[in-house]
Amino acid sequence: MRLWLRSLLLQSLRSSRGFCGPPGRPPPSPVPSEMVATWEAISLGRQPVPEYFNFAHDVLDVWSQMEKDGHRPPNPAFWWVDGLGTEVKWSFEELGKQSRKAANVLQGVCSLQPGDRMMLVLPRIPEWWLVSVACMRTGAVMIPGVSQLTEKDLKYRLQVSRAKIIITSDSLVPRVDAISADCPSLQTKLLVSDSNRSGWLNFRELLREASTEHNCVRTKSGDPLAIYFTSGTTGAPKMAEHTQGSYSLGFVASGRRWVALTDSDIFWNTTDTGWVKAAWTLFSAWPHGSCIFVHELPRVDVKVILKTLARFPITTLCCVPTIFRLLVQEDLTRYQFQSLKHCVTGGEFLNPDVREKWKSQTGLELYEGYGQSETVVICANTKGENIKSGSMGKASPPYDVQIVDDEGNILPQGEEGNVGVRIRPTRPFCFFSCYLNNPEKTAAAERGSFYITGDRAHMDKDGYFWFMGRNDDVINSSGYRIGPVDVESALAEHPAVLESAVVSSPDPIRGEVVKAFIVLSPGYTSRDPEELIQELQEHVKRVTAPYKYPRKVAFVSELPKTVSGKIQRSKLRNQEWGR
Ligand SMILES: *[C@@H]1O[C@H](CO)[C@@H](O)[C@H](O)[C@H]1NC(C)=O
Ligand SMILES: *[C@@H]1O[C@H](CO)[C@@H](O)[C@H](O)[C@H]1NC(C)=O
Ligand SMILES: *[C@@H]1O[C@H](CO)[C@@H](O)[C@H](O)[C@H]1NC(C)=O
Repeated sequence: MRLWLRSLLLQSLRSSRGFCGPPGRPPPSPVPSEMVATWEAISLGRQPVPEYFNFAHDVLDVWSQMEKDGHRPPNPAFWWVDGLGTEVKWSFEELGKQSRKAANVLQGVCSLQPGDRMMLVLPRIPEWWLVSVACMRTGAVMIPGVSQLTEKDLKYRLQVSRAKIIITSDSLVPRVDAISADCPSLQTKLLVSDSNRSGWLNFRELLREASTEHNCVRTKSGDPLAIYFTSGTTGAPKMAEHTQGSYSLGFVASGRRWVALTDSDIFWNTTDTGWVKAAWTLFSAWPHGSCIFVHELPRVDVKVILKTLARFPITTLCCVPTIFRLLVQEDLTRYQFQSLKHCVTGGEFLNPDVREKWKSQTGLELYEGYGQSETVVICANTKGENIKSGSMGKASPPYDVQIVDDEGNILPQGEEGNVGVRIRPTRPFCFFSCYLNNPEKTAAAERGSFYITGDRAHMDKDGYFWFMGRNDDVINSSGYRIGPVDVESALAEHPAVLESAVVSSPDPIRGEVVKAFIVLSPGYTSRDPEELIQELQEHVKRVTAPYKYPRKVAFVSELPKTVSGKIQRSKLRNQEWGR
């Protein structure tokens, strides 16, 4: 059976559709369950990664064939709505056709070669997906970025990555034009817009005229696929490089186990404003033949999210915890989510309180997962496993995840330490290759046999991981180590707290103390602040250890957040410490 599956995969890899040599006998029509089982076995590290792999050719085009053969429910593969009534629906076949046209634009007019780098900064429009897939077809390396990048950010990224092309939309044009003279490698500026601009090629015009015939470039699994700029707390952003195999095959297993996707599911990930990791959605959904649903959603709007869930047959939802926190403030009984059956979250810590409220109001469990730009999913609460509220679940295979000290020694159960992923003797295939041009940083992230994530946690006797905070977020008050998420979770259980961020603040005696920035729930803003502070402090002492209570409290109207909705504790901390 195994052997047969493998030969099936190899046949599909060498199939006569596309590039791979002279057309021989047409391959037998692949069957979804067998194809997915093969990809999943590779994803779990049970089968070797094939030498050649290209997601567009080896996954998307295979689904296109299976769809044609009637092996898939009649769902679209991609479904985009803008809230004004416009919808775009593509089958796998249409996605294939459009992305081949896009690949011809990149290879033709833009003369993009395999290995060339392309910066991709687009809002949530269908072209984002087309261009991502087109990049794969041409063997180009994509560098996703968010529309909020400043001139300085853009210049730095274009210079260090030596990107040859940038593709973006109207809003970024002035910023790119202001710095493009300083970026000698930048040869082509592509604009996704309905109007023309001087110095820019019009992608939509070019796409209309492009041919639908395109031979997918034959990429090796180890060839680069994407570069992610990851910002640490110190120094300039680093470039984490992923390969054709690492990302696209790395998510297949968690796509099924954590996101629980099948070919009849419609998956909406609202989190996609932080475009940097938007590819996660693509690689977790499409191998399973699921439909990716996208709402243009120019800004987070809770009512729009709820209405969309009620109106469209979305089965699977992913939002960052901050959005779920806002959703549970609404009266959810007023909405009927007819198709919704599985909800996942990640990107930051999920307060148990939010999970419980979501569950009691919708009857649906919230499955938390955890990972980084450098990795695929590291830990997750998978469907069918018992959830321990407040834990980010168990290690996600094929990773061996351990809590280690600063030298990379495994710590005893229950002890706080670094979240480490084993990379020796064997580096998992689903892992970034390195920080480009930065061997020092690459080496600094490794201790002994482990890659150090920079997050602190402990593991319990059942193998569940309990997140404590980013390394730099942990507060050291008179030698007591306090994780901000414990305090935030405790605060979240108080009805006065809409959301909070907990950071260290200088203190002449204790060195550091806990300070909580709190956004009050409506209805509490008129309370006497002194009284309320005392009440909240007593509350935290009661629900968690007394030494963790916030000695300082500030009520604020909002918290600083990244574009993807994560709370930026570092901003508040710097403010506290006058940095
Ligand atoms: C943009 O320019 C192309 C030729 O470069 C032209 O064919 C097209 O009509 C122009 N589109 C608009 C909207 O002006
Ligand atoms: C949803 O998208 C965000 C950012 O684009 C990503 O970090 C997250 O992993 C995605 N979730 C899933 C389940 O694919
Ligand atoms: C925590 O602070 C104490 C002094 O208050 C110091 O001695 C200790 O080294 C610090 N611990 C860490 C891990 O930074």
